Amino acid sequence: MTYLVTGATGRVGRHVVSELLARGVPVRALTREPARAAGLPPEVEVVAGDLTDPATLPAALDGVVGVHLLTTGGDDYATLRTGPEIVEMAEKAGVRRIAVLWNGKPGPVEDAVRAGGTEWTMLQAVDFMSNTLGWAESIRATGEVREPFGDVRAAVVDEADVGAVAAEVLTGDGHAGQVYTLTGPEALTPRQRLATIAAAIGRELRFVELTEQQARDRWRQAGYDDELVDLLASWQGNPPPVAYTVTDTVERLLGRPPRPFATWAHIHAAAFR
Ligand SMILES: NC(=O)c1ccc[n+]([C@@H]2O[C@H](COP(=O)([O-])OP(=O)(O)OC[C@H]3O[C@@H](n4cnc5c(N)ncnc54)[C@H](OP(=O)(O)O)[C@@H]3O)[C@@H](O)[C@H]2O)c1
Repeated sequence: MTYLVTGATGRVGRHVVSELLARGVPVRALTREPARAAGLPPEVEVVAGDLTDPATLPAALDGVVGVHLLTTGGDDYATLRTGPEIVEMAEKAGVRRIAVLWNGKPGPVEDAVRAGGTEWTMLQAVDFMSNTLGWAESIRATGEVREPFGDVRAAVVDEADVGAVAAEVLTGDGHAGQVYTLTGPEALTPRQRLATIAAAIGRELRFVELTEQQARDRWRQAGYDDELVDLLASWQGNPPPVAYTVTDTVERLLGRPPRPFATWAHIHAAAFR
């Protein structure tokens, strides 16, 4: 009855791990580099494997009934092309449920999961609160943040809530074939998020708005491919309603409201000081 968490060393995955453990089920963590899993709880079984190379996955899938599955791989978040192989191997290994951490873009993982025979659930989380950790270095060093689209709202969600929902859909019933859009309790602009962080750390912070071209250049310099740069520009600059419409999904599934950004900012305040 083991559950495999891909991305277990990442921001969402570590919460999926802790939430599954809290439900009393055995958890296996997949990582390309087991040393990165050192911070996971000791009861977690750590297995090496790479989602871009399905030949590395049999040991990870052995005896697994449920999988928390990423749709991107590599440090540049490239779309995983190996979806069909991963899903076929998972089904042969006896996996019955897959929770897909979906980035909202159709691709080989989602297609293969939908076409396959497992009970699947898509978790669409448009914008993690922890994306603002990308501002931390600049805030600490200069007290300012340089970003595009300062007045565009996003219904940011706490990655801890995403992890809790993932554990629920993997271990609870009634979620097969559902596409869940997960948001926090309010849609906030980057300027509002920065003001919330400023209040949490008790320091005045400045928002400097970049042009879209400046942002695209920066994402390319960070190594993102054209596909990801276009995705970021369109979702941040001209988002569809799903990106800023608050849903009640977290509350409906967990029986408690989603955590607001102000709470997230207090919990993570040390990163910005
Ligand atoms: N940021 C957002 O707002 C947002 C919104 C929706 C969806 N997403 C998606 O959410 C997912 C997780 O995001 P996150 O912020 O939790 O990630 P993160 O903190 O950046 O960590 C990435 C995780 O992916 C794993 N990984 C990367 N390439 C891999 C590969 N080839 N094989 C196996 N594991 C691999 C890493 O494991 P190791 O390094 O240990 O191998 C790590 O655990 C991403 O797939 C992203 O596309 C993000």
